[in-house]
Amino acid sequence: MMADILVVGTGYVGITTAACLAHLGHRVVGADIDERRVEQLSRGEIPIVEDGLEELVREGLASGNLRFTTDRAGAAASCEFAYLCVPTPQSPDGRADLSHIEDVARTIGPALPLDSIVVNKSTVPVGSTRVVERVLERGDVSVVSNPEFLREGSAVHDFLHPERIVIGSDDQSAAIRVASLYIGIASPHIVTDPASAETIKYASNAFLATKVSFVNAIAAVCEGVGADVNDVVLGMGYDPRIGHQFLRPGPGWGGSCLPKDTHALVRIAEDGGYQFDLLKGVITVNEQQLERIVTKVIEAVGGDVDGRVVAAWGLAFKARTDDIRDSPAIDVIRRLIARGATVKAYDPAVRGPLDGIEVCEDAYAACEGAEVLVVLTEWDEFRWLDFDKVADAMKQLAIVDSRNVLDRTTVARRGFTHRGIGR
Ligand SMILES: NC(=O)c1ccc[n+]([C@@H]2O[C@H](COP(=O)([O-])OP(=O)(O)OC[C@H]3O[C@@H](n4cnc5c(N)ncnc54)[C@H](O)[C@@H]3O)[C@@H](O)[C@H]2O)c1
Repeated sequence: MMADILVVGTGYVGITTAACLAHLGHRVVGADIDERRVEQLSRGEIPIVEDGLEELVREGLASGNLRFTTDRAGAAASCEFAYLCVPTPQSPDGRADLSHIEDVARTIGPALPLDSIVVNKSTVPVGSTRVVERVLERGDVSVVSNPEFLREGSAVHDFLHPERIVIGSDDQSAAIRVASLYIGIASPHIVTDPASAETIKYASNAFLATKVSFVNAIAAVCEGVGADVNDVVLGMGYDPRIGHQFLRPGPGWGGSCLPKDTHALVRIAEDGGYQFDLLKGVITVNEQQLERIVTKVIEAVGGDVDGRVVAAWGLAFKARTDDIRDSPAIDVIRRLIARGATVKAYDPAVRGPLDGIEVCEDAYAACEGAEVLVVLTEWDEFRWLDFDKVADAMKQLAIVDSRNVLDRTTVARRGFTHRGIGR
């Protein structure tokens, strides 16, 4: 079945959703309030770093299956499905801010054709499906929750090969109509009520954050008892009940989702009458982890970073993306700057200017005159740099490897002291 689909919000989730649905054969309009972004996308240029996405957008533009517009209501008038892919940032009280969702619902509500379906892909608190229904003021339009689980860096692959498709609706025929849009994608479908679908998304992200905080806590234990966390997680991961994924220590979880979604779930639980102490602990461990990395850097330069030059490799919140939203790398850098350090940073995917942070053209330039190098994002290419050249550039040969990404023996052979994490 080929459908006419509106995708509102053309960010990481929206561009991927629009391009992949067009690739599956649907006629898709991507709509955004950001005029520059719409112009750029209409020329086939992608404002984000995401493997394979540009090719897919160009394929859609060339076939005529994909176009972009700022006219949300105009586009809605000819679409039987409208996907919401707009931000749901954290409000000051920790709850998710639904103002973008409500704005879109208000704008497209009067224009949507009879019996159309609004599909919510944004991460929204339990009860938001009802909020959208209320704002739409359209008894004939169904609202279906269809949370997105793609990972930045492999968004296209994840959309086209998902581990599961979750559809939350009280209206079975609407759920079937949404499921039919994904014909051609082999994956389990979980059809449930809207509250359960919304909870699945938050519970999944909270569980992933818990895994990372747990492994970071184990890394701290390893440092205390002389164990090697890399071997510990390898030994743990072979147990299929635990698994290898998301068991890598680092400077803490970040990005555009886990921080806001964990805080939101704490508030959702509170609103439902439950104090989610476990998740609060997960958040606390994550904050402590940033400070643990800062302490390692301070120790590496002899106890004080004030007036010292620090090289930082990595700005993105994880490798293979340019997303710096809530990046632990940036957080650590800002903490060092607040203590008087001059930080020279480099990231393969992130270009400056960045408020208050000097962003260098390459990894070696960032090391010029530095007394310590801190590795903050797990880009694989950092392993293969010329450490003779790095040593020539630096004033002192100290490395803090917050991702355990470098080969300790290689850098030690070139005279560096290497402080990893949990080993
Ligand atoms: N980024 C991820 O990895 C990811 C994964 C799963 C779910 N999500 C969820 O998906 C949602 C979108 O996330 P994202 O990372 O794609 O956001 P984003 O910030 O990358 O993109 C959002 C886009 O929406 C546009 N926009 C904002 N308000 C609008 C409005 N009123 N009308 C039209 N367009 C509007 C913005 O201009 C922007 O282009 C969030 O709820 C997020 O939690 C994100």
